Amino acid sequence: MKLSLSSPQSDIKSMVVIEPEAIKLLPDYSRGHTKLIVVADKNAYSHLHDYLDQYVAAGKDLIELEISEKAKDLKTVEAVLRELKARGCDRKSLVVAIGGGVLCDAVGYAASSYMRGIQWIAIPTTLIAQADAAIGGKTGVNLEEYKNLIGAFWQPKAVLVDPNMLKTLPERHIKAGLAEIVKMGFIDNKQIVELFNSSETNDVLTQLIELSAEGKVSIVNDDPMESGERKLLNFGHTLGHAFESLSLATSEPLLHGEAISIGMVAETKLAELEGVCAPELTKTIQEILTKIGLPTSSSSQDRDEILKRVVLDKKNEGGKTLWTLPKEVGRGIYNHQAREENIISAIDFVTK
Ligand SMILES: NC(=O)c1ccc[n+]([C@@H]2O[C@H](COP(=O)([O-])OP(=O)(O)OC[C@H]3O[C@@H](n4cnc5c(N)ncnc54)[C@H](O)[C@@H]3O)[C@@H](O)[C@H]2O)c1
Ligand SMILES: [Zn+2]
Repeated sequence: MKLSLSSPQSDIKSMVVIEPEAIKLLPDYSRGHTKLIVVADKNAYSHLHDYLDQYVAAGKDLIELEISEKAKDLKTVEAVLRELKARGCDRKSLVVAIGGGVLCDAVGYAASSYMRGIQWIAIPTTLIAQADAAIGGKTGVNLEEYKNLIGAFWQPKAVLVDPNMLKTLPERHIKAGLAEIVKMGFIDNKQIVELFNSSETNDVLTQLIELSAEGKVSIVNDDPMESGERKLLNFGHTLGHAFESLSLATSEPLLHGEAISIGMVAETKLAELEGVCAPELTKTIQEILTKIGLPTSSSSQDRDEILKRVVLDKKNEGGKTLWTLPKEVGRGIYNHQAREENIISAIDFVTK
């Protein structure tokens, strides 16, 4: 499958290619650049190097980064920028990011700021990154405990999605990736939810990636800078980010997708309390997430801390908390102002 994204920053199209061995296309997309520099997640690369080395040219410039959600920060970005400089990258160099959502977000952001922006290609190696994170040009890192507070819209020239790369990904990360795909099902395409209900996810994984990517590309093409419809993609993320950042300080941090799973349950409950959706929808989403094996409640009981993060969420405008909520399977709304008592009840629903 080949999808095309328009870029608000330039007239180049960003291509999303989803197929086994999509990485074979790298030489085509690298033509015309003065230098190709690969920045890879060290851990992902250690699993995939036998596979990757067949396609990524020998003698390549390779930077291996030890990266994780905790190190998704400006220090890592600075380290990448220093390496780009040290290795002689100029404005016409091409950065190839190989890794999960954390690596792609951070390296894409480094590419957006090096010499005011150089071109990059994303080769996502996790389910979250293949179905969602690497597509759409949102790049960035965390500031202190606030998720993705620093960032830029910077479309990669190409996103090469090779489902073969998921073979080495641990099951827990596959499940976390499925959470973002469930999100697409609830706010955009009910076919995804039907597929979850009718099939074993392992049998339809590539189809799920394609449906999710298609939905995301279509939404981003309509609203690249998130002034409207793109906000739908934030479903589950206002409360989800609060759970995620709070859990990072504990001995058992949640994965991004796991936090979004809990966030989606809470925000569907909020939709129910606000009269946006029917009460059955909360049950529907709980059942699907439970079937996948994702968490639907959080051990964090600190309601005040969660609320503090909701108030500071970067999606708010003019001091108002604005919510993306599901209306029915496959359809959502955004910019919804919810009542504080309902927000508290929704938090309590998943923290009790
Ligand atoms: N930019 C966006 O639009 C967007 C959308 C969704 C999520 N995100 C971001 O994505 C991040 C989460 O991404 P993630 O879940 O990919 O996390 P991640 O990048 O930390 O990867 C998860 C783990 O899998 C390992 N790994 C990666 N590929 C592997 C492979 N093929 N085999 C074995 N191990 C492998 C990594 O080393 C890491 O330990 C969050 O920071 C989130 O904010 C961004
Ligand atoms: Zn997400």
